[in-house]
Amino acid sequence: MSQHLHHDIVIIGAGAAGLTLALELANTHKVAVLTKGEISEGSTLYAQGGVAAVLAETDTVDSHVQDTIIAGAELGDEEAIRFTIEHSKESIDWLIDQGVPFTRYGDDQDYHLTKEGGHSHRRIIHAADATGLAISKTLVKNAKAHPNIQFYPDHIAVDLVTTQKLGLNCPNRVIGLYALNQDKDEVEVFHAHRVALACGGSSKVYLYTSNPDTASGDGIAMAWRAGCRVGNMEFNQFHPTCLYDAKAKTFLISEAVRGEGGRLLLPDGSRFMFNFDERGELAPRDIVARAIDHEMKRLGVKHVLLDISHKDPEFIKEHFPTIYKRCLSYGHDMTKGPIPVVPAAHYTCGGVVVNQHGETDVADLYAIGETSYTGLHGANRLASNSLLECIVYARSAAQNILADSTPREDFTIPDWDASKVTDSDEDVVITHNWHELRRFMWDYVGIVRTDKRLLRAKHRVDLLLSEIEEFYSNYRVSADLLELRNLAVVADLIIQSAMSRKESRGLHFTLDYPEKLEHSDATILKPRIRSSELARS
Ligand code: FAD
Ligand code: SIN
Repeated sequence: MSQHLHHDIVIIGAGAAGLTLALELANTHKVAVLTKGEISEGSTLYAQGGVAAVLAETDTVDSHVQDTIIAGAELGDEEAIRFTIEHSKESIDWLIDQGVPFTRYGDDQDYHLTKEGGHSHRRIIHAADATGLAISKTLVKNAKAHPNIQFYPDHIAVDLVTTQKLGLNCPNRVIGLYALNQDKDEVEVFHAHRVALACGGSSKVYLYTSNPDTASGDGIAMAWRAGCRVGNMEFNQFHPTCLYDAKAKTFLISEAVRGEGGRLLLPDGSRFMFNFDERGELAPRDIVARAIDHEMKRLGVKHVLLDISHKDPEFIKEHFPTIYKRCLSYGHDMTKGPIPVVPAAHYTCGGVVVNQHGETDVADLYAIGETSYTGLHGANRLASNSLLECIVYARSAAQNILADSTPREDFTIPDWDASKVTDSDEDVVITHNWHELRRFMWDYVGIVRTDKRLLRAKHRVDLLLSEIEEFYSNYRVSADLLELRNLAVVADLIIQSAMSRKESRGLHFTLDYPEKLEHSDATILKPRIRSSELARS
């Protein structure tokens, strides 16, 4: 028999998005927060640069809106962009009220604002070069102190339970979910009147990524299986500068390093970004990552160089203490010379289609943060707009929930049925498919695409999907199997979206259609729920 747990709302994920929602609801709701592993593990913890917001007197909402539209290659939804940026200052005030220790600087000890690619003003508020750590620590501490918030670490959400999946004769709504309790190795049943997906992105679908292991697209895949549309999945952002060092496992070198004067160099020491864009190193990320990729392929080199050693060493150590120390630990002293860098998958611009309150196509199901597609990022995210989106939409979702006091019906959810499955006899299938999937996504669906490469990837993902589905139906679930199953769904959504876009725009660049079309819309995919995708109950 499965264990059954009851809460008003279950939030899957404890990053900036999930914890903001939890804290905003906890005074009136019993909140459960599920995390895959340790509570703070997720992309939020590793965010470096900061949070973009209109804070300087010389800055304006219109200017930030304009920069976001341009970085997004004119595919962003202007209403969503304006909504987000109009709420930027109050979101920062909220974080400050929560106790986030943003960096103060100079004689007046005002909050320091840094600059990143694509921004026409200094508008990135930050906590040195470890902004995510400061946000995560603060929000986790506050959430742990709240009696109405219960954490469930080491619980991997497997699938959502909806009235439609249970074949109930009523309008479709989410009523709970199944989650694998990794300590007990058992699947538990969570009942809830509302569920929020705050699971982060899916950059782990690529072989090289700046993201932690949590970023396997679980929220997007679960929403898709539950009947939600997803949008703009072809736009996966590659961060231009991750440290190239086998020991570093793609450690990010913040864009703020370039914002504060860092230069990109070829192996012969020459600067190259101005050959590609008049904004040089501070062009939007898609342009910088593509330029690096181009130069690496042209010269047959494994990395390019990033140099900020012309700046005062004390300035470097003060602004980038984490990056300086990490690089030094691998033998690269950024105060003395250039460091080797390469692009890596960094951010999922697409996701579960939501409205301004984070509501999805399924009633009572919300998606917030990197899991969602709000329309903010268009074809390429402007640096440091993502943490902002997490806070703005989580708070908006909370307002929406607090404004609706209509009582929800309680439903019976069947136990998880493991009676027809056995222990896997060949885990090598999982490890092999993991590696194969991430490798072909990197090679065929990466920074530069072609029709032929996408077709190759599509053939492979179709095969993997059927193999994984068979494995899922016959064997006991494990963390690796669940993640692989979700990664395959996400890979398929990325490939389908990329195949349908017959132009190059923002992060989607294809040699077969190198031009940007005059008019273009977001790519929205609609799911078809198959019986094999129903929860195993
Ligand atoms: P995350 O913080 O990724 O949290 C996801 C949560 O979901 C985790 O708690 C995880 O355990 C949980 N989860 C996932 N799947 C499941 C499941 N199946 N069951 C249970 N729990 C699950 N953005 C900026 O704006 N500024 C920056 O400076 C910046 N720097 C970055 C630097 C790095 C190295 C990285 C990787 C990203 C950076 N970003 C930055 C992007 C930004 O950090 C993320 O987009 C943002 O933190 C996402 O927050 P989130 O709450 O949506 O998800
Ligand atoms: C960085 O610090 O370069 C990351 C910023 C971001 O991803 O927005």
